[in-house]
Amino acid sequence: MKLFLDTANLDEIAQINRWGVLDGVTTNPTLAAKEGRDFASMIKDICAEVSGDVSAEVVSTDTSSMLDEAHKLADIADNVVIKLPLIPAGLAACSQLSSEGIRTNVTLCFSPTQAILAAKAGATYVSPFLGRLDDIANDGIALLTEICEIFRVQGYETEVLAASLRSPQHVAQAALAGADIATLPAKVFEQMVKHPLTDIGLERFLADWDAYLQAMG
Ligand code: E4P
Repeated sequence: MKLFLDTANLDEIAQINRWGVLDGVTTNPTLAAKEGRDFASMIKDICAEVSGDVSAEVVSTDTSSMLDEAHKLADIADNVVIKLPLIPAGLAACSQLSSEGIRTNVTLCFSPTQAILAAKAGATYVSPFLGRLDDIANDGIALLTEICEIFRVQGYETEVLAASLRSPQHVAQAALAGADIATLPAKVFEQMVKHPLTDIGLERFLADWDAYLQAMG
C-alpha cells in the first residue's frame, strides 16, 4: 500500500518526505485555503518537493469549467493528478480527461455504486472517505472493504485511495482491506511511528551503553 500525505503545507511535506516513506500528496480546497497563497504556485512547489503523484482539486461544478481548470492544473507539472468531485459533471470530466491521458482522482466517494461509476469513467484513483462516514456513525472500513472486493472481482484498473483517515488504526485496517493507497495527515504519520516501548527500549539501550563506556574507562 502506498502512503500519501493529506496536506498542502510544504513544511509538513518536507518533514515526512525526509523519512523516505512518502509516495505522494493529496490536497483539497479546504487544505489549500489554509495556506493563504496562490494555488498554482503552491501546487508547483509541492510537485517539486515530491516525486510521486500530487492531487489538485477543481472547484467548478460544471464539466466544461472543470476541464478548463483541469487543463491548467495538469500543465503545472507531470505529477499533477486532477481531483474531481463524484457528481455527474465530475464523472463526465473524468471520462474526457481519461481519454486525453490526464490522470484523475475522483473524490468524495461514500458508496460502492459511486466507486463503480468512477472506475467506469476511467478514474486513475477513487477516494472513499472513511472518517467522514465514521463521523455519522457509519462504517468507513466496511465501505472500503466492499469497494476493494468489487474492484478485485471486476478487475477494475482504478486504484482505491483510502481517504479521510483519522488514526493509525484506520491505516492498518485500510492496508488489511487491500487499499492501493492511504492518504493521511502528518499527525497520523507521527502517531504511526510512535510506540512507548520503542522509546523506553532505546532509553535503556543508551543508558546501558553509557554505563559500559564508563566501566571501560
Ligand atoms: C482526501 O483526499 C481528502 O483530502 C481528505 O482525506 C479528507 O479528510 P477529512 O475528512 O479528514 O477532511
